[in-house]
Amino acid sequence: MSKKLIGQVKLPGDKSIAQRAVIFAALAEGTSLIRSFPQAGDPLSTLNALKPLGVEYSFSEIGDLTIKSHGQSAWVSPDRVLDLNNSGTGFRLLLGALAGTPNVDFAVLAGDQSLSVRPMRRLTERLQNTGAKLSGRGQANFAPIACEGQQLQGGDFALPVASAQLKTALLLSGLMADGETAVSEPHASRNHTELLLPAFGGQLSLSDNALRLKPSRLKATEVLVPGDFSAAAFFLVAGSLLEGSRIEIPNCGLNPTRTAMLTVLQEMGAKIDLGEQLSVAGEPIANLLVQASPLRGLVLAPELISNLIDEIPILALAMARAKGSSSVSGAAELKIKESDRLAEIARLLSFLGIKNELTTDGFRLEGNAGALFKAQAETYTVPHDHRIAMMAMIASLCSEKPFEVIGREYAAVSFPDFELILRELSA
Ligand code: S3P
Repeated sequence: MSKKLIGQVKLPGDKSIAQRAVIFAALAEGTSLIRSFPQAGDPLSTLNALKPLGVEYSFSEIGDLTIKSHGQSAWVSPDRVLDLNNSGTGFRLLLGALAGTPNVDFAVLAGDQSLSVRPMRRLTERLQNTGAKLSGRGQANFAPIACEGQQLQGGDFALPVASAQLKTALLLSGLMADGETAVSEPHASRNHTELLLPAFGGQLSLSDNALRLKPSRLKATEVLVPGDFSAAAFFLVAGSLLEGSRIEIPNCGLNPTRTAMLTVLQEMGAKIDLGEQLSVAGEPIANLLVQASPLRGLVLAPELISNLIDEIPILALAMARAKGSSSVSGAAELKIKESDRLAEIARLLSFLGIKNELTTDGFRLEGNAGALFKAQAETYTVPHDHRIAMMAMIASLCSEKPFEVIGREYAAVSFPDFELILRELSA
């Protein structure tokens, strides 16, 4: 018997928005207030990396974060390595900003084992073309990367893939540049930078399909971070799959560049109700309610990938318990996330007894129509990847014999209370 999940989920603040908020606040002159900042691994890594640049911060008793900075032109060369640990967003965004900060004449950005094998060349090469001085292994392809801040020229970047990290990093490199920095993408990636940077005074506009940033001096402001939709996605799937479940998820961020998973799940037959939509600083939020229901398989349209890029592991689990076959294509980007997520999805599905096949840019699988998974062993070891860890923990709840997930602490990178909440909901 699988366990039903009943109750309410308190979401962590959105990891993408929180990391942008602290970096923009550090670049801005004055004192910024960030409310509902998530105490999760990645946002905290990014926040800590800002301190040696001369940025001060403190938390209030209720967890509001105050950031005090004299602005980008007052950043100092750090006297130690800036360690971004597991955070690809923190690493890339900060590298972009530092590359174009001439008053920081030397900084080294590093990461953990997982981050140090993720390719950076697509960013560093473009920055070097505008005058950035960067060095690191494999022609500045891998962390650690050393950066000598320069007066950059600005530039015109047409990205071959949709990537919000790359887009944002390039835009931030242009804050102190001599000219305009323009970035275009083949599909729209998440637009949190477009919404938040102008709130800090960034002169950002959209014309001829490109985002254009004029050199800008940012000013401190106040930000309320909405609940993380990517964290909610795990409960949307768990609630759908575990018979008798009913989960409420208040204050969930519903930015349309992030929520393709919602429509895909509904198309598969999920029962998800949305409460009244409100808006915080241009970001839509609403309360969600998910109730268990049988799912149908689906062929995922590749143009949706960039709007559910982080949800594909948990979507694969929904597909695995749906009726009929499902497939995902156009998702080669998943190979360079916190782990090779395509390979890890396939490995976990096989462990669960689900027939699947990896393709060059996705996978196909045969769903088991709501049957319980047949785990091949009593334990399963996940890579250092929070989303695979959470996928495996939900898979265990849907198994004939639950298995122990080794590495479930990695969930804390984005969702420290994940296991606790799962336990409370199934009590
Ligand atoms: C993020 C963008 C996405 C996403 C990552 C966070 C961001 O990466 O996978 O978890 O905050 O900008 P890409 O933009 O590189 O696809």
